[in-house]
Amino acid sequence: MAQSDLIVELVKASVSGDQESARVTAEAIAANERAKKHTIVADRITRALATPQKNSRVGSHRSGGFRVQEGTSGIQRRNPERPMSSLFLDKHIRTACQEFLEEQDRADVLRAHGIEPRHRILLVGPPGNGKTSLAESIAFELALPLFTVRYDAVVTSYLGETAQRLRRLFDFVRTEPCVLFFDEFDAIGKERGDLHETGEIKRVVTTLLLQLDDLPSYCVLVAATNHPELLDRATWRRFEIKLELRHPDDNQMTEYFAHRLREFNDKSGYTAKRLQSVISPKSFSEAEDFFLDLHRRYVLAQGNVTFRTIVKERVKAKSIQTDQQEGYNTNDRPSDPAFS
Ligand SMILES: Nc1ncnc2c1ncn2[C@@H]1O[C@H](COP(=O)(O)OP(=O)(O)O)[C@@H](O)[C@H]1O
Ligand SMILES: [Mg+2]
Repeated sequence: MAQSDLIVELVKASVSGDQESARVTAEAIAANERAKKHTIVADRITRALATPQKNSRVGSHRSGGFRVQEGTSGIQRRNPERPMSSLFLDKHIRTACQEFLEEQDRADVLRAHGIEPRHRILLVGPPGNGKTSLAESIAFELALPLFTVRYDAVVTSYLGETAQRLRRLFDFVRTEPCVLFFDEFDAIGKERGDLHETGEIKRVVTTLLLQLDDLPSYCVLVAATNHPELLDRATWRRFEIKLELRHPDDNQMTEYFAHRLREFNDKSGYTAKRLQSVISPKSFSEAEDFFLDLHRRYVLAQGNVTFRTIVKERVKAKSIQTDQQEGYNTNDRPSDPAFS
């Protein structure tokens, strides 16, 4: 049967709730893919087929013939679009990422020698320097879907419920190769020695640790935090790779500015070094905002104003803003020590 007919058969079987027929059809699709040497897809189908027991045990029920996986409500699924080459990364970070990607890409070679690839990464560092973007680009480079955990759907105030939801979420995640992303990971992986902890937090962290240990290596876990000091020590140890994305230094920022200025194909009247030193953004995110603003003005000007003039105006606006801030900082600071 042609692959397209098999897919239609699979959909029919799923809708009508005929599990046996869905399984046979999915196996036929996997066999077809394997014959075409699409081993990764074939393996994914086979692995997905191997998991229904887990789903039926926890967090799933049947409704109108479909299997509804409750774990999905705590997850936002997205197809990643950001290549790693679009990010400015320290050399050692890029090398670590490349090694990690190679381990995942060539996991079969490692497994043939009884070794598992690493699959748990912790990204730390101040906001706006690429933690979320790097998580997305890891998914992109591995051609895997990006599952972002939605805390609003996982964390509840009901005793025991959060831990249970976490378990369901991991049960769902295990069903296919993916990148599971916990942003603001400290929200959930907090230090257990915290004075204000409740039994509930302890239970959540314990569940989290067990799930981290249980996660198969074809599921990549990326966690990001601006507050690594809040992480439980045991949680910290679970991560095989820890990368710090720091604020860029002047050289990196100059490189970023040079790259972005080239996109305009027009004279700015500034060297990249000079422009970055006047704008002096604290993070890549701030620098990106500056260029987005320039781009907006440039597009709306429709050739009536030169790029050089637009840049000049923006630099002027920036220096007025800086003067005002400095004026506030030195003259208008409230005398109340609580504000100092
Ligand atoms: N290292 C980087 N290279 C290029 N752009 C970056 C980098 N870091 C951040 N950005 C840009 O800044 C924005 C915010 O980055 P993000 O990944 O959300 O930072 P974080 O998660 O660390 O707060 C993104 O839109 C991204 O394009
Ligand atoms: Mg982020």
